[in-house]
Amino acid sequence: MKDLAYSTIDSYHQAKQLARKNPEPFWAEIAKNFQWHKPWDKVLEYDFHAPEVKWFLGGKLNITENCLDRHLKTQPDQTAIIFEPNDPSEAAEHITYKELHSRVCRAANMLKANGAKKGDRICIYMPMTPELAIAVLACARIGAIHSVVFAGFSATALAARINDAACTMLLTADGSYRGPKITPLKAIADEALTQCPTIKNCIVFKRTGQEVEWNSIDLWWHEELEKVSDSCPAEIMDSEDPLFILYTSGSTGKPKGMVHSCGGYMVYTAYSFQNVFQYQKGDVYWCTADIGWITGHSYIVYGPLAVGATTVMFEGVPSYPDYGRFWEVCAKHKVNQFYTAPTAIRALEKHPTSLVEKHDLSSLKVLGSVGEPINAEAWHWYDKHVGKHNCPIADTWWQTETGGILISSLAGVTPQKPTYATLPMPGIQAVLLDNDGNELEGEAEGILAIKHPWPSIARTIWGDHERYKKVYFSAYPGYYFPGDGALRDADGNYRITGRVDDVVIVSGHNLGTAPIENALNEHTNVVESAVVGFPHDIKGNALHAFVIPNKSVDDAEKLTNELRDLVAKTIGPIAKPDRIQVVSGLPKTRSGKIMRRILRKLAAGEYDNLGDISTLLNPEVVEEIKQNS
Ligand code: PRX
Repeated sequence: MKDLAYSTIDSYHQAKQLARKNPEPFWAEIAKNFQWHKPWDKVLEYDFHAPEVKWFLGGKLNITENCLDRHLKTQPDQTAIIFEPNDPSEAAEHITYKELHSRVCRAANMLKANGAKKGDRICIYMPMTPELAIAVLACARIGAIHSVVFAGFSATALAARINDAACTMLLTADGSYRGPKITPLKAIADEALTQCPTIKNCIVFKRTGQEVEWNSIDLWWHEELEKVSDSCPAEIMDSEDPLFILYTSGSTGKPKGMVHSCGGYMVYTAYSFQNVFQYQKGDVYWCTADIGWITGHSYIVYGPLAVGATTVMFEGVPSYPDYGRFWEVCAKHKVNQFYTAPTAIRALEKHPTSLVEKHDLSSLKVLGSVGEPINAEAWHWYDKHVGKHNCPIADTWWQTETGGILISSLAGVTPQKPTYATLPMPGIQAVLLDNDGNELEGEAEGILAIKHPWPSIARTIWGDHERYKKVYFSAYPGYYFPGDGALRDADGNYRITGRVDDVVIVSGHNLGTAPIENALNEHTNVVESAVVGFPHDIKGNALHAFVIPNKSVDDAEKLTNELRDLVAKTIGPIAKPDRIQVVSGLPKTRSGKIMRRILRKLAAGEYDNLGDISTLLNPEVVEEIKQNS
């Protein structure tokens, strides 16, 4: 995979120039590093106004042949996955490429034997064990479209995602270990499936061994595997066939099923993985994300495996059994590239540095950050205590929708700048726009937008192409609009300033406020609610909910607890507001629109900075909110 990587600043500049002048030959050269059954007829067809994007048209491939089969010739005994269990006393598992290939093929046959075929949607609701990666790859092997739902989501959220894509099969587990907790995944799945008529089979992987209820559609994973062989030819896919759906929050109620396609996604995840992390053969790379999120899809599974890397999968949490677990695992597996989220760094930073220092981190070469802006304090702590001032930090900006990293330094090749994601990758044409959609030049602050497609841009929202158009291509016609603001310094480095819509990033998780408000409004004593983010020193942002009750509240604590539970049940525990404030009204414009800008200031305690509130319909509620908070 050497041809994918720019390991010197000169080669980086050359690539950047070529990509700008001639994007299509640039991407074609990169795509030649992969195994295609039939090469593409045309590199790119796109129209951001339609919107429509197609890459490597007419190309035929299977991504699993690129992630598995081709490495069998060159490095069958290389470790593909190192599995580090939640409990440190349980042995780690080292899975070679040869073994992973065999296990994926067997699982693929298990899916086929139970009726799955190309184009079917298969929902995966599983813990972070190798079987989750195997499930994903098994779907890709047979051309089924996987839809992984993070195993922290509730039954209601799981059911909504299964139904949106009309999935025909669910892959789950009896339970999952996360730190000291066991989550009863099967019981949650059972509850979800009472509302999911399209599911024909539910295959259950045994992880915790806990008691589970058994229904007529249930099958044990280990029993089904025994019935099939480990030889499974890969389904030949068109470059533009969907590979997977992954749901992300939006500013309106319903989650958006982002659809990624086979060819472009493969090319871009491998390209960006190789360049950002400067992975070298034999290195051990660890991304601490969950495969339930895009980071896990692109940079635990597909990107690393496509280049033949050794990727660590961690089942646990950074705080268990103590706050030194990340560093213990880095030392144990001699991790070379370590990729985590600022929220984890901020949480760990609060604990004695002896928890870091007692572990030998000398194997580390590269550090990465993802999911939200990394504040200066966290950046410097990471650099000093983990990197020992000796590891470049790649602050990687991207999204579920972009499929791969778009703005980042290339570790050790391009300059880093604390709190800046720095420069767009070669092939990415980022711009800043003013509110009217004019491009800003030089040093500036504005709306971040991308001018030209890249291979792993999501192609649509499952079942709702109009929404795709509206959310990403309508506000600034001719550009892809990610929903983030940014500033740019004189050297062209970008610093992401945060969302410009009603999505709040809490502990690196992208949460739409609308679905949380919908959940709160389900309560019999809530008439209306508004949820906003406020700065939080560990989570980055936390949620503040303002709720209007329909009758007087005698026991505010009881109501608050009920509302938190309701949000956990409807969406998942990650969406529970930190603060719930009962109010008699919400600040509104004369046309009845909630003034979220004012609520954000109130939640942040910025009372002196509220701006002119005299034009509000009900300025008195602002005073009341201040008094009660
Ligand atoms: O606001 C940006 C923030 O996370 C959003 C995307 O969230 P999601 O689709 O869940 O994907 C997260 C993992 C890629 C972005 O719109 N974000 C992501 N990375 C960064 C970031 N904000 C600042 N700096 C980053 N490095």
